[in-house]
Amino acid sequence: AAAWGGLIETYRRYLPVTAQTPVVTLLEGNTPLIPVPAIAQEIGRGVQVFVKYDGLNPTGSFKDRGMTMAISKAKEAGAEAVICASTGNTSAAAAAYARRGGLRPFVLIPDGYVAVGKLAQALLYGAEVLAIQGNFDRALQIVRDMAEHYPITLVNSVNPYRLEGQKTAAFEIVDVLGTAPDWLCIPVGNAGNITAYWMGFCQYHQEGKCDRLPRMMGFQAAGASPLVSGAPVPHPETLATAIRIGNPASWEKAIAVRDASQGEFNAVTDEEILAAYRLLASREGIFCEPASASSVAGLLKVKDRVPAEATVVCVLTGNGLKDPDTAIKHCENQFKGGIAPELEAVAQAMGF
Ligand code: F0G
Repeated sequence: AAAWGGLIETYRRYLPVTAQTPVVTLLEGNTPLIPVPAIAQEIGRGVQVFVKYDGLNPTGSFKDRGMTMAISKAKEAGAEAVICASTGNTSAAAAAYARRGGLRPFVLIPDGYVAVGKLAQALLYGAEVLAIQGNFDRALQIVRDMAEHYPITLVNSVNPYRLEGQKTAAFEIVDVLGTAPDWLCIPVGNAGNITAYWMGFCQYHQEGKCDRLPRMMGFQAAGASPLVSGAPVPHPETLATAIRIGNPASWEKAIAVRDASQGEFNAVTDEEILAAYRLLASREGIFCEPASASSVAGLLKVKDRVPAEATVVCVLTGNGLKDPDTAIKHCENQFKGGIAPELEAVAQAMGF
């Protein structure tokens, strides 16, 4: 088989690019759809569960799918600088792709609420990082204003090319399963990704690539769940900082996806998120970030309503290495320190 050439090359006929578009790629996409039998067993009744592990993208999150498109199109349009607000992952992806394309990336982040791995990435890739004393929702308002008044291209998911790139994850799932899953469980923050997945499933359905569409099950953190309560949350709080968002930009689109797919929005508590996070790592060998684990936490929360024999895909949006602080703080496993560097001491510490 030919080597993987990245999303734009692979799905070119479904994307708004031309032969003139300068493709900025890190060969993102083609991430594995991994069976998770221990989670399926918690549900029983012949239900099959897979995770779409998008934490294996080049910068460690699904944002790379959107960013290869957004940066390629910005470059095609002659942009020299891009800007985004971010809870961390978008800033890392924007920085990597912008620098690779020779553009200048600016990022606005909520001071104190970005996981250390994401901040390290943005800085090392060479973004100009501005931390504001406000939350993500405020940062997004500011960058939208910036892009309106200054010569700088906005690369948040309100940029339509972001969703075009991200819809390819749905294509990959159908390409592997041979059809769409019965349920698609997905973390929801700014609500771009759930919108993008639905676009992808619908487009593939229209092309005759799948004979059905999934129910779209969106999960938000309980302290940041405006789509569940129906009202913006002025002060969102959750340890899943990636989805610490109170007023999603794609609110109406997300509601339309829910309604068209007969889906639902539900909230999961930080404790439920952490339980799923630990279960994925310790039973399945899959290390995702806390926000990503909300898809599995949500599935387990509503497991009694999954139809027998159904196929379920949970999206794992980001890599666990993004947020080592949370892993160490909330891990029930401890290491034993202070052991003498001797065989006997080690054997004794091991319980022999
Ligand atoms: N999971 C992770 C790991 C994320 O980083 C995000 C969003 C989401 C889920 C939610 O996706 O916003 O499309 O509903 N992160 C953005 C960022 C806000 O700035 O990195 P969404």
